[in-house]
Amino acid sequence: MKNFQIQYSSKVLTVTVSRPKALNALNAELLEELNDIIQELYQNNDTRGLIITGDGDKAFVAGADIKELAVLDREQALALARSGQNLFKRIEDCPKPIIAAINGYALGGGCELAMACHIRIATENAKFGQPEINLGIMPGYGGTQRLTQIVGRGKALELMLTGDQISANEAKALGLVNHVVSGKDELMALANAIMNKIVNKSPLAVASIIKTVNAGFDFERAGYTAEAENFSACTDTNDFREGTKSFIEKRQPTFTGR
Ligand code: CAA
Repeated sequence: MKNFQIQYSSKVLTVTVSRPKALNALNAELLEELNDIIQELYQNNDTRGLIITGDGDKAFVAGADIKELAVLDREQALALARSGQNLFKRIEDCPKPIIAAINGYALGGGCELAMACHIRIATENAKFGQPEINLGIMPGYGGTQRLTQIVGRGKALELMLTGDQISANEAKALGLVNHVVSGKDELMALANAIMNKIVNKSPLAVASIIKTVNAGFDFERAGYTAEAENFSACTDTNDFREGTKSFIEKRQPTFTGR
């Protein structure tokens, strides 16, 4: 795989998102590879769990790839949001445990990826947020729903409307991460310790718990459909063109409401 490093040990797969020149941003090729990894996890009876982390110390995943987003038309944006939602739903519904080991920026699609995982742990330097608003768009990979489920409507709205980044300790206080540790070594050690506990339980009971918890959150409800439609509608605006262009040109955007 071009965008992942893969390790397998004691029935646990560890995948490291590795696209350091773009802070591990999720481009189309990377998402296809992640889809293959998740497919393999579902199908391979020898693999009992998955840990996802990011290469280096700076980023887990800094979001969807803004340079790819910038050139999408409305229909392409709708298809992208739907396929991202479906992939992240496969992660959430996986009968085997998936742990996000977050080692730096988890922004936009990166925060959404982490939220689709069953358990999140982070290093002290990790930063969380849904900064899409700064690009004139909104979360499109399930973040509007999962952030609201995890931290509650009031804080979720504040985070999405301001685009503010929060620290790992703030994320822990909100229940967005379960544990915060000092560095990458401690992060992987804790991820493996939690995973080892789970993979030594009955896989049937593990799968039943995940399935039952998820049954309380109906994926088909209006929120996900609205998210994909409104995400794509945002890409049909001058503000989106200005937001993405300003990111690429490394300057502040000027939004006009058109
Ligand atoms: N997409 C594409 N490239 C990205 C990227 C992204 N999401 N995030 C960072 N990069 C690239 C930068 O363009 C830069 O590339 P160049 O060296 O070629 O200029 C490189 O990674 C390093 O980034 P910075 O120079 O910006 O690093 P920094 O330390 O100054 O800032 C940062 C780090 C705060 C994370 C900043 O990179 C940033 O704000 N990134 C974008 C975060 C974001 O908006 N994410 C949401 C994306 S939209 C989305 O995810 C939609 C959805 O829900 C589906």
